[in-house]
Amino acid sequence: MSSNLRFEVRPGGVLRGDIRVPGDKSISHRSIMLGSLAWGTTQVEGFLEGDDALATLRAFRAMGVEIEGPADGKVTIHGVGTHGLQAPDEPLDLGNSGTSMRLLAGLLAGQGFEVTLIGDDSLSRRPMKRVTEPLALMGAEINTTPKGTAPLVIRPVDGLRGIDYEMPVASAQVKSCLLLAGLYADGETWVTEPAPTRDHTERMLRGFGYEVMEEGPRRGLRGGGSLTACDIDVPSDISSAAFFLVGASIAEGSELTLRHVGMNPTRDGVINILRRMGADIVVSNEREVGGEPVADLRVRSARLKGIRIPKDQVPLAIDEFPALFVAAACAEGETVLTGAEELRVKESDRIQVMADGLQALGVQADPTPDGIVIQGGSLSGGRVDSHGDHRIAMAFAMAALRADGEIVIDDCANVNTSFPGFVALAASTGLQIGASDE
Ligand code: S3P
Repeated sequence: MSSNLRFEVRPGGVLRGDIRVPGDKSISHRSIMLGSLAWGTTQVEGFLEGDDALATLRAFRAMGVEIEGPADGKVTIHGVGTHGLQAPDEPLDLGNSGTSMRLLAGLLAGQGFEVTLIGDDSLSRRPMKRVTEPLALMGAEINTTPKGTAPLVIRPVDGLRGIDYEMPVASAQVKSCLLLAGLYADGETWVTEPAPTRDHTERMLRGFGYEVMEEGPRRGLRGGGSLTACDIDVPSDISSAAFFLVGASIAEGSELTLRHVGMNPTRDGVINILRRMGADIVVSNEREVGGEPVADLRVRSARLKGIRIPKDQVPLAIDEFPALFVAAACAEGETVLTGAEELRVKESDRIQVMADGLQALGVQADPTPDGIVIQGGSLSGGRVDSHGDHRIAMAFAMAALRADGEIVIDDCANVNTSFPGFVALAASTGLQIGASDE
C-alpha cells in the first residue's frame, strides 16, 4: 500500500437517495471466527468484503478451515469444532485490523500449536498489552515487542484457567478476546466492563448455542463447551452509515434513506449524539435479524448546534467520532468531547489527525488529552492527510459538502478495510468525489 490513493471532493452538493451500506465489520469478523469453531456449516449473508474482515477469513483458511466465498456477501464456513484448527505454515498477517489481532490472540492462546500474528505499520504500533496481560493471567504465553506491540508470538501451553477480570478500559475487543480464550479455559471466565461496549460476541455465541452468563456489568462463560453452526445475516454497518448520516445532516436540501442498518443499543451513540445536536433522523421498520436489531433510517438536513457530548455515549460511538467532528465543525457553537482518550490509539491518533485536518480547513479545533473542543463555523477547501485511517478519509470527504473549496485527502487506500465501494456509493447519492492514484 505504498501508493497514495487520493480523494478529490468538489465543494457543495446535496445527498439524496435510498442506499444500503456494506455489512457490519465487527459482526463479519465474528461470523468467520465462530463459524470456524462450530460443528456444522455456517452460511453468512451480507458479509463485509473489506480488507479487515477478509484478513480474518484468510487467517482461518490458513488454519485449515474450508471457507467458500465471499461472493456477493455470501460466505459458507465448514466449521472444524473448537479443537479442529491446524498450525498455519506462516505468520498470520492481519493487515490493518485491530479486531482480528486482539480477538485472535484470545482464540489462539489455548490452541496446541505456535502461531505468530503480524500486521501493517499502524497495527504494529497499537497497544496489545491490554490483551496479553490478562491472557497471561489465564496461563497463556504470548510474546510482544518490548513496547507491548505486535508481532505476537503465541506459544502452546498445558491449559488455560478461567479468571475474573476487571477491565481497565471499556473495550469490546478486550472483552471478546477474553471470552474467546475462556472457551478453552478450565472453569469460568468473567470480565467486568467499566462501561457497556458492543456485545456482538455475546449475542453471536448465544446464537451458536453457547451460554453466556450476565451479572450486572459482568459477562462470563464456562470453558469446554461446543458451538453449533448457525446462519448469519449481517446488518449494514452503522459505523459506515454514520458518514451518510453526517453528510445528509450538514448538506442543506438532503434527504437520504439508509436500509437494514444495525441498531444494536451498544452501537447507536452516533444517532443519540446527532439528535442531541439537532439532526433529523427517523428510524423505521425496526426488526430483529439473527439476534441483532436492524432498522431503516431516514435523514434530512438540519441546523446542527454544538453540544457537550455525554461521556456515557463515548463507547457507544467510539468509531464515529471522525464523522461527528465534521458535524461539530458545521454546527453552530462549540462542541466539547471528553473521556475519549481511546481515540488516540485507533488506526491513527484520531484526536490529533482530525484536529490537524480541521485546522487545515480553517476550523478552530483544539485537542485535549482525552478529547477535543471544536468551534463550529465555516469550512474552507484544503488538503488533509488521513494518515491511512479509513474513517478519517471518509469523514473529510463528507466535509466537502459544506466547504467553500475543493478538499483533497491523501492516503485513502485503507477505506477498503471497512467500506469497499465508498467512492461509487457516495457519488451515487450526490457527493462530488473522485479518486486518483499517484
Ligand atoms: C471493535 C471494538 C472497538 C472498535 C473497533 C471494533 C470490535 O474497539 O473501535 O473498530 O469489533 O470489537 P475497542 O474494543 O478497542 O474499543
